[in-house]
Amino acid sequence: MTALTLEHPAVQTAADTEWWRGAVIYQVYPRSFADSNGDGIGDLNGITDRLGHIASLGVDAVWISPFFTSPMKDFGYDVADYCDVDPIFGTLADFDRLIDKAHRLGLRIITDLVFAHTSDQHAWFDDSRQSRTGPHADWYVWADAKPDGSPPSNWQSVFGGPAWTWDARRGQYYMHNFLPSQPQLNLHNPDVQDALLDAARFWLDRGVDGFRFDAINFAMHDPKLTDNPPLPPGGKRTRPFDFQDKINNQSQPGIVDFVARIRALTDSYGGRFSVAEVGGDHAEREMQAFTAGDTHLNSAYGFLYLYAPSLAPDLVREGAEVWHGRGGQGWPSWTFSNHDAPRAISRWAQGRDPKAYAEMAMLLLMCLRGNVFIYYGEELGLPQAEVPFERLTDPEAITNWPQTLGRDGARTPMPWQADRPQAGFSSIEPWLPVDPRHAALAVDRQEGDPTSMLHSTRRLVAFRKSQPALMWGDMAMLDAGPGLLSFERTQGNERLICVFNLGHAAADWTLPDGWRVIEAVNLNAPPEGQLPPMAGLVMATA
Ligand code: BGC
Repeated sequence: MTALTLEHPAVQTAADTEWWRGAVIYQVYPRSFADSNGDGIGDLNGITDRLGHIASLGVDAVWISPFFTSPMKDFGYDVADYCDVDPIFGTLADFDRLIDKAHRLGLRIITDLVFAHTSDQHAWFDDSRQSRTGPHADWYVWADAKPDGSPPSNWQSVFGGPAWTWDARRGQYYMHNFLPSQPQLNLHNPDVQDALLDAARFWLDRGVDGFRFDAINFAMHDPKLTDNPPLPPGGKRTRPFDFQDKINNQSQPGIVDFVARIRALTDSYGGRFSVAEVGGDHAEREMQAFTAGDTHLNSAYGFLYLYAPSLAPDLVREGAEVWHGRGGQGWPSWTFSNHDAPRAISRWAQGRDPKAYAEMAMLLLMCLRGNVFIYYGEELGLPQAEVPFERLTDPEAITNWPQTLGRDGARTPMPWQADRPQAGFSSIEPWLPVDPRHAALAVDRQEGDPTSMLHSTRRLVAFRKSQPALMWGDMAMLDAGPGLLSFERTQGNERLICVFNLGHAAADWTLPDGWRVIEAVNLNAPPEGQLPPMAGLVMATA
């Protein structure tokens, strides 16, 4: 189906210092975006070469997942030096060129800061594990064994197995919420906080426009090392971690004070953006605390849509009702896909036409209140890639296979040219294989097809940016009838109503008198009586 013919008014923008409010942010996973030096791994120069593509989408900013010095046990989320670029990705000078070109194209750059842990190759940890009295002795979470030699508490790690590993040098256990090679920093120590803020300052001085704070709700532990209580029976349990109510290894009140220190720093530079990544059982409460008022982070990015096996009206309702925006509440950020979760189209389309579904999902994303993130390849409608077991690289996937989150399948190379080897990503076999279905959806092929998902993405991003009510307005749920998702977005006198048929069959619905459709997907004409499946529309008063 083709879309209705529509015209968007001119783009409007928020005050410059609040450029991030309502913004569309594009996430780049640097290993997989573009390989400029032919080693099969993406790099900073590759991103710089392709910034024109990102700018052409009309987005406001680019979030680049970690590219810092790292042994890459968790593909960069194990940082060995916060203030340098890993040679796989390039140099600091390459980053300077990247940010310079991005700014000339009107794109802001957001980097990832991983403050809950470092790599075990970080100089701080190297020193910390040498003795119990050295300058960094208390920079990580160390504890004696129990009298029987077992770990100090029952805490479990996200990737499977205990959150404690024995270190023979100190004759103690150290804590890690993720891999054993990602030791937990001790943020109760003010010197550690100061050192992390210095790392943030380093990138602010280089001109970055904001940060995404990785797993920030894991940044502090209970110093008394109290055991976590068990969860009541039920729920999916693939790891020992899933059996516990994780109230003592993470989610400590002191994180909120650290977050306030971060905000004071970013505010001192003006116009910088800060977003917390917050998952887990207590995410909503923590997201609210990390973004409350004007003294905490600008936004928090939750997992509501990331692991949802299907997209139903109640999911959107939950997001809108929890983040109502009243009483000094913070500003949400939403994403449907990222480098940790299976790509949304593969979770949600469930046998329906993936391109039509991708267009509906993109319009819905553009209609949500908050900041919205597009994950690289989402603009092409990429499905989750098939990665055979022998090509898996993600430690989490390998440990828990086949009961895995499938992160590798969301991290495969960006397809640039359909008919080139490796879909134009690199000149040799890349670190993860290109899925042949992705090559068929490559950028060059979609550029040449005005009905492609790529062109729809550009149109839908421009649409959001032309509508103050979508960028900054309130959001309230409406009842449009069975099978339909409907909500209104209001800003001053402007009122828009968004309607989506998320179901598999046509649903009863007629355009009300006095309203006109101003944007739509999977719709040829204003609906009279029925709204086809996967149709989505936004209407305004006629
Ligand atoms: C990142 C993951 C990473 C983990 C540990 C996250 O939430 O998004 O990719 O494995 O933090 O740093």
